This record gives sequence, structure tokens and C-alpha cells, in this order.
Amino acid sequence: MAGFSTQRLPRGDYAPLLDWLRGLLAGERDLGANAANFAALAYHALPDVNWLGFYWLQQGELVVGPFQGQPACTRIALGRGVCGTAALRRETVIVPDVHAFEGHIACDPASRSEIVVPLLAGDRLLGVLDVDSPAPARFDSRDRAGLEAMVAALLAASAIP
Ligand code: SME
Repeated sequence: MAGFSTQRLPRGDYAPLLDWLRGLLAGERDLGANAANFAALAYHALPDVNWLGFYWLQQGELVVGPFQGQPACTRIALGRGVCGTAALRRETVIVPDVHAFEGHIACDPASRSEIVVPLLAGDRLLGVLDVDSPAPARFDSRDRAGLEAMVAALLAASAIP
């Protein structure tokens, strides 16, 4: 696709982003390609975000996938950090203050708050979506609902390997 451009949205406004995402993913089934475009789109559309991307579950640990932001830790054990905690619990985790989260893994020291959404295909955990912000308490229930809907759109559009 050529010439796709996006704009920064107000906090909590996920409706246009979901539309853009569905348009961007239409006609492509490759999960890695779709995750890469998802990361680029969401990173540029969401306000106050300094890292956004995927970790894939591979042989029992999380391995970094497509992302936007500063270089990140490559591998995270299940149960470690916010990503490993969301993966182990298989539920979205919102951390308003990463400094107060026991075991938080600081990849970018600018990050102050974080949300991690698991990628579940039925019972199977594929990985997680991680979004970091330099603002404290950046993420709320609107982000949880919006990002969970975006992840569902990604998985619905893609062939699951
Ligand atoms: N902060 C995350 C690690 C990944 S990075 O932020 C990109 C965590 O605690 O799981």
C-alpha cells in the first residue's frame, strides 16, 4: 500500500484508528506483515506513546517482534516484567507507574506507564502487544477496550501460523 498517512488522535479515541487498521490490513493474511503495519500505524496515531510493539511467544519465552520506538530487550521470560505477567495471566495489564511495579523491565528509561494486551487465538497464546508512555497513568479502560479490539482485528485479518 502506498501513501497511507495517519494523524495523531486524542486520547481514548479509538474509532478512527480501528477503521484505519481494518483498511490497512484488508487483503493481507501474513501475521508478521500485519503486525508491522499495526505497530507503525498505532505508534503514529496514539498520543503520548514512546514504544509500541509485539513480543511473540517462542519456545516458552517472549521474543521481540515488529515495533516502533527505541531498541528493546530481545527476550522476556514468562512471568517477568509487565509483558511476562500479562502473558502468564492471559489478560490485559495496565501499570500506571512502572517504577512501582515489582519486576518491571526498563527498556526505555523514558517509560513511565504501560499497557500490555495478550494475543490469544482461542486457547493459544501467540504473544503480547506492549505500549509504553512517558506520561504517568497514561492508559485507562478506553485504551484497554480499544487495544483489545485492535488486537482482535489483527488476529481476524491474519492467518495464524
Ligand atoms: N517494560 C516491559 C519490557 C518491554 S519494553 O518496555 C519494550 C516489561 O516490563 O515487560
